[in-house]
Amino acid sequence: MKRFIPLALLLLLCIPLRGEKKKEIQRPVVPVPEVVPQIIPIETDHTQLILRPTPKGLLETLYYGARIGEPQVFLKQYRGRGSRSGAGPLAFPVAGGITPPDAALSVAYADGSCNTELYYTGHTQTQDEAGVVTTVISLKDYVTLLEVRLVYEAYRQEDVIAVHTEIRNGGKKAVTLQEYASAALLLSAERYLLTSFHGDWAKEMQMERTLLPYGRHTIESRNGTQATQPANPAFLLSLDTDRFSETEGRVIAGALEWSGNFSLRFTRDPSGDLTVIGGIHAAAAAYPLKPGEVFETPRMLQTFSNAGAGQASRNLHRWARKWNIYRAPDINPTLLNSWEGAYFQFNTQTLLGMIDDAAGMGLELFVLDDGWFGTKYPRNNSRQGLGDWEVNAEKLPEGIDSLASYAHGKGLKFGIWIEPEMVSPRSRLAEEHPDWVVRSAGREIPESRNQWVLDLSNPAVQDFVFGVFARTMALSDKIDYVKWDCNRPVYSFGSDYLGTQQTRFYVAYVQGFYKIVRRIRERYPDVILQCCASGGARVDYGALRYFNEVWTSDNTDALERVRIQYGTGLIYPACVQGSHVSAVPNHQTGNVTPLKFRLDVAAAGRLGMELQPRNLTEAEQALCRRCIESYKQYRDIVFAGDLYRLASPYEGDACALLFVSEDRSRAVLFSYSLGFRSRAMRDRTVRLQGLDAARHYRVRELNTDKSCWWGDGGIYEADYLMGNGMDLKQYKMYDSAIFLLEAQP
Ligand code: DGJ
Repeated sequence: MKRFIPLALLLLLCIPLRGEKKKEIQRPVVPVPEVVPQIIPIETDHTQLILRPTPKGLLETLYYGARIGEPQVFLKQYRGRGSRSGAGPLAFPVAGGITPPDAALSVAYADGSCNTELYYTGHTQTQDEAGVVTTVISLKDYVTLLEVRLVYEAYRQEDVIAVHTEIRNGGKKAVTLQEYASAALLLSAERYLLTSFHGDWAKEMQMERTLLPYGRHTIESRNGTQATQPANPAFLLSLDTDRFSETEGRVIAGALEWSGNFSLRFTRDPSGDLTVIGGIHAAAAAYPLKPGEVFETPRMLQTFSNAGAGQASRNLHRWARKWNIYRAPDINPTLLNSWEGAYFQFNTQTLLGMIDDAAGMGLELFVLDDGWFGTKYPRNNSRQGLGDWEVNAEKLPEGIDSLASYAHGKGLKFGIWIEPEMVSPRSRLAEEHPDWVVRSAGREIPESRNQWVLDLSNPAVQDFVFGVFARTMALSDKIDYVKWDCNRPVYSFGSDYLGTQQTRFYVAYVQGFYKIVRRIRERYPDVILQCCASGGARVDYGALRYFNEVWTSDNTDALERVRIQYGTGLIYPACVQGSHVSAVPNHQTGNVTPLKFRLDVAAAGRLGMELQPRNLTEAEQALCRRCIESYKQYRDIVFAGDLYRLASPYEGDACALLFVSEDRSRAVLFSYSLGFRSRAMRDRTVRLQGLDAARHYRVRELNTDKSCWWGDGGIYEADYLMGNGMDLKQYKMYDSAIFLLEAQP
């Protein structure tokens, strides 16, 4: 009996155990691809990016930087990143699995789960006729069936790699992309000095340096339309140093091809390694993806230099001129723009007079800015009329064609301003199409500059905006140039068209904008387009694919411009920088600068004027004529040459820029004094760079009869100019000089 009880008890205990099915943890089978490559090399002439699928199939970034030769040797010593999380240097870190320092992709699934784990399934590498090598790496989550393709385009000669991502919902239910960045950059260094660009109206591209702390540092914009004003989607990273150098050290530059909300996040994990994630800002933009649907991110550009920031930005410039900017490096014409000279107060006579004077000074294009349109609500101030794009016949009874013909008759091209993404509350368009306005249902629509934004996510609005462009072009067959403006950000976003899918708005707006400008380019390939947004609030490599140039800033004070152009030039080449001489006291700052200084500063970009020429004295007009004429001798170097920044206005009271033609046979030097120097002090020494060491150059100062350099007009060895440099007598604030260098046969 004694023995029987425990046995029975045991039996009783066993019954439920046998009845209950033992629960197994479901382990998805992650098939190991038949061939797992040891590494995936992505190469340019001077750089290598090395990726590798781990034996488990996770894709890691092992290296990015200067060429390291045979990767096998590198692999022998490679010990991995030190991250204590154990996440490893995932080439495209996702939310799920072992938590990475930051996630480029985060997905919410229909069952409420938020984990994604991506495994390598294969890759291809192809080269196109132009020599661009495209590597496509396929990744997959075997539980949710989400698929990701990482696309790396390697531009060999320019040392630029463009990366974007395609995300496909391979599952049977809709998913939501909570985070969908373009690319991740994984770096290991002792220190990271970040150079970034914050800005505001009339204060764009202000260079800022940050020694990256542990944790996260973010650069972002959530402006919707004027996305690059609070910050530009671009950066430079100097590695292993806390000192910025134009000529020394390892530097990475990056830029995003996107004209909307963006974020660039720099996360330094406890081991000191850095993850840089760049892409569309996902704030208020969770993106639904139906089964089978694909989301394609914009491209993130990256380049590396072993010789300081100068080379990194020259790489980007060369790449942009060859592959990105619309029709670069075509020479965009010098121009007179009517805005600061006339604002809204003009009639035909005013404009004809300006055209005469522009022709007289040797300019090549006249641009009629804001104020030419609106009938019921004439655009005589900024309070009304946007949206009603018909000519104001009271102001311009002869119409646009007669103005354009007059300009052509004088040998000038003709340009016109539009702001087609916007509508004034006081306009016929707002009365007829309130549903086209960006607005949050039931709420007041915030105004800024007395205007509202049109909902470009709506295809009907896209058609309308294209129609505005087409109708404007139809006003005359002599319209050669269009200035496309965009004067306010998006507030209180909302789209009648998108219904319950409001979080698509920010992405759909930019896609709508690109659709329109793409269509414009198909129909009007030759028209020169300037991208303006209250000055430089839309300066990015996304827009530049369709635009020939940008309006760098509404701030035309040459002193301020030196800094703005310098900052802009770190990322974007001079050929896109619209740069105008305006009146003094300057309308934005009240500052008074000499005319020659204004001309010499504007000449370091696409030179233009923006004032009433009648207010210039004859002597001043003559100086303008002389400077414009000389500009035509060397502007091809500014447009297509390599830029060497020799003195920074952020670091002292001088700025010096040298553009060297690609074959190094010609160069042009700009030198500006931004502060007073007593004569007891030394001359300003400018040491040139980038010349051909084997050659001699004749050096001539332009635009003056009294040179600030003792050696003006002589011929010098490149070594002398680069080694000893040129000692310039530039003592006064606003002294400026332009030198043309020509290699001797
Ligand atoms: C803002 C631009 O930046 C200016 O150049 C000028 O075009 C005005 N808009 C016109 O309203």
